[in-house]
Amino acid sequence: MSLSVILRTSVFLLCLNIIFIGTSDGLSLPETSSYACVIGGGYSGLAVSRYLKQHGVNFTVFEAAPEVGGTWRFDPHVGVDDDGVPVFTSQYRYLRVNTPRQTMEFGDYPFPDTTPAYPSGTCFYKYLKSFVKKFDLMTNIQVRSLVTAVTWAGDHWKLTYIKTDDRQNHTVLCDYVVVANGQYVLPVIPMFPGLETFQGSIIHSHDYKAPEPYTGRRVLLVGAGASGLDLSTQLHNITEKLVHSHHLKYNQPKFADQYVKKPDIQGFVTNGVFFQDGSFEEVDDIIFATGYEFYHPFLDETSGLTRAGKYVMPLYQHIVNMRRPTMTFIGVVNRVITKVMDSQAAYIASLIAGKFQLPSEQEMLDAWFDHAYKYKVAKEINTVGPEMDQYFAKLSKEAGITRNPPVLTHIRDFNAKNRLDDLFNYRDYDYEIIDSHTYKRWYNGGGKGEVCPVEAS
Ligand SMILES: Cc1cc2nc3c(=O)[nH]c(=O)nc-3n(C[C@H](O)[C@H](O)[C@H](O)COP(=O)(O)OP(=O)(O)OC[C@H]3O[C@@H](n4cnc5c(N)ncnc54)[C@H](O)[C@@H]3O)c2cc1C
Ligand SMILES: *[C@@H]1O[C@H](CO)[C@@H](O)[C@H](O)[C@H]1NC(C)=O
Ligand SMILES: *[C@@H]1O[C@H](CO)[C@@H](O)[C@H](O)[C@H]1NC(C)=O
Ligand SMILES: *[C@@H]1O[C@H](CO)[C@@H](O)[C@H](O)[C@H]1NC(C)=O
Repeated sequence: MSLSVILRTSVFLLCLNIIFIGTSDGLSLPETSSYACVIGGGYSGLAVSRYLKQHGVNFTVFEAAPEVGGTWRFDPHVGVDDDGVPVFTSQYRYLRVNTPRQTMEFGDYPFPDTTPAYPSGTCFYKYLKSFVKKFDLMTNIQVRSLVTAVTWAGDHWKLTYIKTDDRQNHTVLCDYVVVANGQYVLPVIPMFPGLETFQGSIIHSHDYKAPEPYTGRRVLLVGAGASGLDLSTQLHNITEKLVHSHHLKYNQPKFADQYVKKPDIQGFVTNGVFFQDGSFEEVDDIIFATGYEFYHPFLDETSGLTRAGKYVMPLYQHIVNMRRPTMTFIGVVNRVITKVMDSQAAYIASLIAGKFQLPSEQEMLDAWFDHAYKYKVAKEINTVGPEMDQYFAKLSKEAGITRNPPVLTHIRDFNAKNRLDDLFNYRDYDYEIIDSHTYKRWYNGGGKGEVCPVEAS
């Protein structure tokens, strides 16, 4: 480790120590007969609803949109919907999941066996709806309820939401708050010189709905994360030219002739873009697939948390607000499979139902610092990625919940690599879990994108 890294690290950790001076007053948890408020009715909010219901906890889910489903619900609006509510979903046409469904299923609620490993986004949405029906969750879900403020009021939380149909504000008192409002809701576009002078259209992949509007156009696509790669496969053969700026090293598939790979961007002019190798391309449209930041605009300083776009801290087990342990989070974690959200949900419901006790604040802090020392930079504080299997084990041991087996981490790791090796065809395979360490994978002939044996609800 270089001296500068050590210095930066020490300064960072010193700052954290300062943050932690002053102790929390929220460590004793309320009675189990209490009321829990869940923010968001996407996969995570639905997952926790099921477990809360099974534990007999009284709770309400506040969902801003007219329907549950979060990012898996397609919404044709861009910006705000007909109720004036921000469109949080990033779903687009022809999307298929990019991780085998086995890494995304709710506990004890698998897809029907004949479902392909990579169903469409529409199919995943159908699956979420069937889950809601199966566990009768709608009775506890209040839609068109946009949470605008959550403040600590001494021994409970005050949660304010706006009913988006009649624009009335309401306040409820909650013993527990579960924050499950999604991690892909606030898109980020980096600053580039001259971007404001560019005359064509500019969107973030969050607002991308379908490839068709780009037919016959010259498009700049920026980024090669999950979204950037997926959009490259949708756009390479319908655009007049697809200029793809990124620095990912991967096995680039055989794109159509109009595909051009470019390095990072230097800057923009009215009709095009300069790259760092000095080259220039004229383009009509720009799509920034440049990622997201954490977004909790309804929290204020009374939460006791330190937050920025890339981190929320200190969270015990990436879940519990250590300063006020009656506030928990689902999905404030980087580089995990969706099933992690299901485990976090089970952990939270078990905590709220009084099935286990948190350690002392000092012990939680120690555990947190162990993680912080290992990951060092603030933007990695919420990373679980390489330790996902240990994370499943820890949650299960502490909360007495079902442990997700190592095989899921093996599948995650293989899939992540295989997507980069075989971008066009990695979804043409099915998977079967054999036991807690092994799985089987075989070619299914391709073309399974439309198959969805999930029963409509
Ligand atoms: C395009 C895309 C593709 C993806 N594909 C995969 C994949 O293939 N495999 C995989 O494992 N993961 C994938 N993911 C990750 C995905 O985020 C998770 O699968 C899962 O949807 C996370 O669920 P969530 O409930 O945490 O968040 P979301 O699905 O975002 O749900 C959050 C909910 O909270 C609501 N909400 C937000 N703010 C408020 C508020 N203030 N008040 C009330 N309600 C609010 C929103 O309306 C939304 O319904 C993908 C993500 C994106 C964006
Ligand atoms: C659940 O809690 C709410 C809010 O405190 C309360 O109004 C309601 O009566 C409770 N329901 C039950 C079944 O206890
Ligand atoms: C609701 O609260 C917001 C502030 O959060 C305020 O701007 C708005 O006027 C309120 N609406 C009504 C109908 O009271
Ligand atoms: C474009 O390429 C994709 C694979 O990336 C393929 O599925 C699709 O059918 C092609 N579309 C056209 C119009 O050729």
